[in-house]
Amino acid sequence: MKRIVLGITGSIAAYKALEILRRFKKGGEEIVCVLTPHATKFVTPLSFSTLSGNPVVTGLFEPRNTPIHIELAASDLILVAPCTYNFIGKVASGIADDTLSSVISAAKSPVVFVPSMNTNMWENKILQENIKKLKKLGYYFIQPETGALSTNKIGKGRFPEPDLIVKKVYQIIAQAEATPLQGKRIIVTAGSTQEDLDPIRCITNRSSGRMGYEIAREALARGGDVVLISGPVEIEPPKGIEFVKVRTTKELAQEVLARGDKAHILIGTAAVADYTPVHYENKKIKADKLTLELKKTQDILKLVRKRYKKLFIVGFSLESNNVIERAKAKLKEKSLDLIVANPLSSLGGFETQITLIDRNLKLKKLPLLSKSEASKQIWDWIIKSRNEQLNAPTN
Ligand SMILES: Cc1cc2nc3c(=O)[nH]c(=O)nc-3n(C[C@H](O)[C@H](O)[C@H](O)COP(=O)(O)O)c2cc1C
Repeated sequence: MKRIVLGITGSIAAYKALEILRRFKKGGEEIVCVLTPHATKFVTPLSFSTLSGNPVVTGLFEPRNTPIHIELAASDLILVAPCTYNFIGKVASGIADDTLSSVISAAKSPVVFVPSMNTNMWENKILQENIKKLKKLGYYFIQPETGALSTNKIGKGRFPEPDLIVKKVYQIIAQAEATPLQGKRIIVTAGSTQEDLDPIRCITNRSSGRMGYEIAREALARGGDVVLISGPVEIEPPKGIEFVKVRTTKELAQEVLARGDKAHILIGTAAVADYTPVHYENKKIKADKLTLELKKTQDILKLVRKRYKKLFIVGFSLESNNVIERAKAKLKEKSLDLIVANPLSSLGGFETQITLIDRNLKLKKLPLLSKSEASKQIWDWIIKSRNEQLNAPTN
């Protein structure tokens, strides 16, 4: 069951929204109707509350724990049908002076407009510019039809058939569910990094890069705009993503930091070399016995968190012992949003048995899975956790 906000504005076609409401109710959906003050001049809230089984929302200022527009904005979809010339102009200008426009101002879920008006209003260049602007921002429109209008003239602006509107809304819901990362910029780091001892030798980790590459592939399949920043590995990057090849920890840090401000989510699967030589030898080291002096490399995730407070950061942890406790400690120390604890056995392999740990230190242990299947479960968890965080009341 989906919760859909059905917004009705002051159009002569307002009564047709009742047919849309009936169809959604038949489909088992929960519908909350929001009428603009002008819509109530055309239709009565009573019909909508009776058919929806929910009180109709008209006023913004009734006392409540969570403001009504914030609560309704968290619905699965917002449909404005019919939508007036005026209402499109308001949303396009960022105005939120009634309940419905306030809901839309706070919504992260899909918003669908069904414009319906006189042909001259429809052809008005201001309206067409507003529609163009809103479409570019990711709002959906269902085009009005050509036919007899309320003035008995034939022209474009007629409210489409309710069946068609309902069908398109279900298509939009299905598409949004299949591509929950649409419009999200995602950075995935993968592979290992190398720290040079001399022109030939380096210190590195035994990472195949498979987990990170699968995570990047899955993010792409879910509609994300993905950049994969990878240390040297022997596998091919998935097609369709931006691929950035790095070698050292410093290079990896630079590439991540350069993109952090525009990104929504960072998944740090890279097995960063934790140590780097204090001295680099310009010529190949030749010695019978050698003592190396090493220092810690930069902690990339810590650095990124310090600079980008709002970025949703998911870390990966691989330890030989105390796997869960150390992962929890890293989550806290680096102020991560989530962390994936990897067992030692996953190193270089095709399978892994991971534990997912959230900010409240709640654990979710997964069975032994292929890295491809694990990446699906990791994304389900990231998307759910991030949505919960975004929808948490902040006042
Ligand atoms: C009889 C009548 C019918 C109207 N029909 C429409 C219409 O179909 N589409 C439209 O955009 N405006 C229509 N309007 C104008 C809107 O009601 C007006 O622009 C109003 O401010 C819209 O308010 P709202 O967008 O807050 O609901 C109509 C006005 C009247 C008096």
